[in-house]
Amino acid sequence: MTVSRRGQVPPFAVMSVLARVAELRAAGRDVVSLCAGEPSGGAPSDVRRAMTELMSGPSPLGYSETAGIRPLREALAEHYRRWYSLAVDPDAIAVTTGSSGAFTAAFLAAFDVGDRVALARPGYPAYRNVLTALGCEVVDLDAGPAARFSPDVAMLERAHARAPLAGLVLASPANPTGTMVDAELLAAIGRWCAAHGVRLVSDEIYHGITADGSVGGCAWTTDRSAVVVSSFSKFWGMTGWRLGWCLVPDDLRGSVDALAGNLALCAPVPAQHAALAAFTERSYAEASAAVESYADARRLVLEAIPDLGWGAVAPADGAFYVYAELDEALAPQADSVAWCSALLESVGVALTPGTDFDPVHGGSAVRISLAAGPETVGAALVRIHRFQTGFR
Ligand SMILES: Cc1ncc(COP(=O)(O)O)c(C=O)c1O
Repeated sequence: MTVSRRGQVPPFAVMSVLARVAELRAAGRDVVSLCAGEPSGGAPSDVRRAMTELMSGPSPLGYSETAGIRPLREALAEHYRRWYSLAVDPDAIAVTTGSSGAFTAAFLAAFDVGDRVALARPGYPAYRNVLTALGCEVVDLDAGPAARFSPDVAMLERAHARAPLAGLVLASPANPTGTMVDAELLAAIGRWCAAHGVRLVSDEIYHGITADGSVGGCAWTTDRSAVVVSSFSKFWGMTGWRLGWCLVPDDLRGSVDALAGNLALCAPVPAQHAALAAFTERSYAEASAAVESYADARRLVLEAIPDLGWGAVAPADGAFYVYAELDEALAPQADSVAWCSALLESVGVALTPGTDFDPVHGGSAVRISLAAGPETVGAALVRIHRFQTGFR
């Protein structure tokens, strides 16, 4: 039987951490898990109420049009006016199965086998793995501590000079670093991509989750040939609802619609209807309150880091992560995978090893998720401190 090489993507180290968390909990251990990239509070109350009403209502909730129900695309267009003062045509919006569905359709529509697509490293592993499975060549932009964890135009110039790039996937705020590309750099990157025929895919799924209360810059402000990808998963805490969207440039609209239709027919329809309630004032307020709790947790982690003896910390401007180099705190463990495992076994705290985000340098880094809020994160920090002093 044939087995495609496409499926041979690397497993995530965090999956074995999570499996061990489940085993320890089943054995009665008290474990604080700060691995997950999902808000613990879940969807806004108006969205939950809307879903309850839908479930007892008469609608059969069958397939929708591939691009998503019209009222949701209109509400999203209004959201772009509200957050970015941008006019977006609802027909340029494709509602998808999480932003993950948007990435697959956008990558397939924009890139051919063999195309070179640049990514920041460290970065979200699924971009690398999906692009590789699709036969694209992933080009790393080394955005580690020496580059303040941020990609820039000079890196693009160098990569493009080696062999032409077809695309760039840029996330701001980024996972795992929380790094935000400021408006000036975003505009410069957008202009560079447009001038060099490089398709920018802008991952904006952590917009609205920032330490300074800003929203984040939308790539469509400067480059309408970019694909903008976003989601209900993070700001609205709706990870399991599997609902995202993308802003599709004119030249990709037909392909994205045809591909998305063939891949998934449409995004989950009950979630699409309920998500209309994500745009009420109450929903924005509830989501913003969750963002404040991540900021409180971030403060706790940043204050604790000097005491923990950790090294360079990524800016953590946004999203809900802190990504830090362990430096001498790593010893006696060989790397962050072993360090995370020892931490879990001895004091019951689960973190994500940096190897999941950076196959080259991630062995000395960890990611802490702030999504559980300040109380849980504070309790974990006490345990991490105990673990580290035990080894000194
Ligand atoms: C940077 C980034 N992009 C995309 C996703 C996918 O999210 P979803 O498919 O739930 O919208 C994630 C999930 O953690 C992420 O961290």
